[in-house]
Amino acid sequence: MNGNSHKNKNSPAIVIPDDFEGHPLESFCIAPNLTKFLQYVLIPGGFVQDRIERMACDIAVDLANEPFTALCVLKGGYLFFNDLLEKIRRLYRYRVMDLSEEVADEAQQIRVEFIRLKSYENEQSTSNIQVIGIESLESLRGKNVLIVEDIIDTGRTMVKLLNLLKQFGPKSIRVTSLFVKRTPLSNGYVPEYAGFNIPNKFVVGCSLDYNEHFRDLNHLCILNSLGKDRFSQ
Ligand code: HPA
Ligand code: MG
Repeated sequence: MNGNSHKNKNSPAIVIPDDFEGHPLESFCIAPNLTKFLQYVLIPGGFVQDRIERMACDIAVDLANEPFTALCVLKGGYLFFNDLLEKIRRLYRYRVMDLSEEVADEAQQIRVEFIRLKSYENEQSTSNIQVIGIESLESLRGKNVLIVEDIIDTGRTMVKLLNLLKQFGPKSIRVTSLFVKRTPLSNGYVPEYAGFNIPNKFVVGCSLDYNEHFRDLNHLCILNSLGKDRFSQ
């Protein structure tokens, strides 16, 4: 039995079924000023952390032999990014990947970069994206890149980002997304490391927002109609 037999076999996303009724808000600690705008808890924060721990393990096993650049897609990706990297670093400290010391010193380096994406419609009404917040995407040339995203919805943004990044010649690109929504509008894109596969509902919390509200909420929740009205733009 080979100890590395699980290599490159990523753990499956946890599927939250369409008919899942969620957990009562009263069962958790949620700031009272937020509770009245929420319907229920879809995924408790502790569950999210447990899943991130396993995703960190999958990624650490795949990437331990080479340095990589973790590319955080702001703003929604920032909490997941922080939690994920903290857990990968912990695994590296424990050296669960059984690397020889010479290899490990060079290999287990994690660089970080942060980007924000702006979508815009051009005159042909085909949408496009603009990457801001990074000095130059040239810094990704020859690097192993791990894109860290909060949620994949239609998949269109991610496909466009991947096409753009490929033009800068990274050595490899992998994508991790904490949530993947099941939507009929999906273009079929699936990330290498997916946390939770969730119903086609608008979710907030875990750094996902509704017009910049609810990012701080530490559980993934569904808004109620009062919340939708109150914070609509
Ligand atoms: N919530 C917040 N942001 C999002 C969502 C969502 O359900 N889907 C895509 N971006
Ligand atoms: Mg996002």
